[in-house]
Amino acid sequence: MTAAIHGSRPAAVVCGLGGGTPPRAVTNDELAERLDTTDEWIRSRTGIGQRYVIEPGMSTGSLAVEAGSRALKSAGLGSVGLVVLATTTPDRPCPATAPEVAARLGMTGVPALDVGAVCAGFVYALSVAAALIVSDTVRDALVVGADTFSTLLHPADRGAGVIFGDGAGAVVLRRGRSEEPGALGPFDLGTDGEHAELIQIPGGGSAQRAGGEPTRAHDHYFTMQGRAVFKHAVLRMTGSVRQALHRAHWAVEDVDRVAAHQANSRILAALAEQLGMPQDRFLSNIDRVGNTAAASVPLLLNDAVADGALRPGDRVVLTSFGGGLAWGTTTLRWPELDIA
Ligand code: COA
Repeated sequence: MTAAIHGSRPAAVVCGLGGGTPPRAVTNDELAERLDTTDEWIRSRTGIGQRYVIEPGMSTGSLAVEAGSRALKSAGLGSVGLVVLATTTPDRPCPATAPEVAARLGMTGVPALDVGAVCAGFVYALSVAAALIVSDTVRDALVVGADTFSTLLHPADRGAGVIFGDGAGAVVLRRGRSEEPGALGPFDLGTDGEHAELIQIPGGGSAQRAGGEPTRAHDHYFTMQGRAVFKHAVLRMTGSVRQALHRAHWAVEDVDRVAAHQANSRILAALAEQLGMPQDRFLSNIDRVGNTAAASVPLLLNDAVADGALRPGDRVVLTSFGGGLAWGTTTLRWPELDIA
């Protein structure tokens, strides 16, 4: 342990937080009216009680604007130097959704980009924004995770169909010092593209178009091999959390709260067991919102601050896993901030 490791250094510091879901909630019972499933199966196998879905006139971009506007208000800022949007469900395949989100928030002229790492997207987006802040390229940034997987699900898919919901969450980062509350610690990021087929939308991309294959409507739906993904999720998040703790010089016992991607409550239980952490350190809102993909971690933080489960000074681990396969983890001491 050297002074260089523990000494003060430039860092990206969380200074604003916001989140939101569309108004329409869909209960498990409502899903069971059109899918061969039950409330009991969904609750016991996933921990999910309901999820929210968008209605006509809404989109990933509109959810991102709402969450982003709340995060800016929470930070007390009217604008920032960068907008990064993590999403797998952009408003259109081209162009990126982030520039329009930035413009709708009153920010034209700023760099704005989408980041695609499926359910790991928010932690990836944080890492991109943090790097641009620490390198002095920008002073501050809005980082949004927003997804509307309800638009990707096949109406007859009872596997993925019961776990996903729509939502958005956002944080504001500013340039600061590593010893400040809210400073993001080192990141652990990784992918394993050999398992790309476990989570995918097979059609609509260049591989299909270049092959001249006819587009089949079915190919545009999201597919997931749930049981295999479950195992990879536990394995990869366990390894990633250990790496990030190691880099932050934190022991497992130092962690007060874990904000892990909300895909399935049984994954959270397995992760807690693998890490040797009490389950009650794991924040959870999966019962209310389901798996909101890139929105999952920031929406969880927002809900946890709102209900008092996450408090200033808490040492928090953020970890996520998704298609790619991709995973990412970072750490921070939770700062004092108000949410809208
Ligand atoms: N209702 C009732 N039965 C269902 C069902 C549903 N909604 N979904 C699947 N089943 C059935 C299956 O058909 C299967 O039946 P069988 O044994 O007769 O063949 C049985 O339940 C078990 O299926 P399986 O796919 O193994 O279920 P599971 O316990 O793995 O749960 C998921 C399915 C999708 C909830 C679960 O695999 C999961 O959460 N995976 C991880 C998702 C994830 O982490 N994603 C991260 C990136 S977003």
